[in-house]
Amino acid sequence: MKSDREAFLHRLKLAVFASGRGSNFIAILQAIDSGRLTADVKVVISNNPDAGALDIAQKRNIPTAVINKKSFDQREAFVESLLRTLEKYKTNLVVLAGYMKKIPPEIVLQYKNRILNIHPALLPSFGGKGMYGHHVHEAVLAQGCRISGVTVHLVDEVYDRGPIVAQRCVSVEEGDTPGTLAARVLKTEHKIYAETLQLFAEGRVEVKEGKVGIKRK
Ligand code: GRF
Repeated sequence: MKSDREAFLHRLKLAVFASGRGSNFIAILQAIDSGRLTADVKVVISNNPDAGALDIAQKRNIPTAVINKKSFDQREAFVESLLRTLEKYKTNLVVLAGYMKKIPPEIVLQYKNRILNIHPALLPSFGGKGMYGHHVHEAVLAQGCRISGVTVHLVDEVYDRGPIVAQRCVSVEEGDTPGTLAARVLKTEHKIYAETLQLFAEGRVEVKEGKVGIKRK
C-alpha cells in the first residue's frame, strides 16, 4: 500500500492531444474523478479549433491550446510552440487521444517513452498511415477477422509502431458493420487507456530494448 506522499509523487501531469470528439479524454477524466487514475490533465492540445475535446476541457477549466502547423511559417516555430506549451504546464506524460497528426521527432526525442497513443485494433496489424477511424474497422471486416481489439503503445517516429504497453481483444460479431465494431472497440478503449496510464502513475512501466515490461505490484 502506497503512502499518500508516494502517490502524490507519482501523480501524473498529463498533456492530452486530441483532434476530435474526445470520448477517450472523457473516460480519462472520469477515471481521475473516481480515483482510479492518479493524474491531473494539465493541458489539452489540438490541431483542430472545433475539436469536441477542447469544449470538454474548457467546461472543466482545463487550459487548452490550438496549435496547428499550418498557422506557422516555419516548422521550427510550430515545434517550439508545442514544446513550450508542454513545458509551461510541466507535463510528464503526453496522451494522444484521437490526435490525427504526427508528433514531430523533436518531441518524440524529448519525451522518449513518455508519449502514449491508443489505436482501435491489435497492432501491428491494421496500423500505419491512413489507418484511422472507420478505415481500421473496414479493413478488419474485409479481412474476415474474428477478433479485433485495442492497443496502447508508446509513440516513436513511425505511425503506430512504438513499443506496445497494453492490448485487449474485442470480438467481431456476425453482421458487424464498421460502425458497430467501432462502438464495441471504443468501450474497451475507454477502460484500457486509464488502466494503462495508472501503470505509469505507479511507476510500473519499464522499457528495455524496445520492449515494455510491467513490474508487479
Ligand atoms: C479512437 O478510436 C482512438 O482509438 C483513435 O481515435 C479515436 C478517438 O476517439 N486513436 P475519441 O475522440 O477519443 O472519441
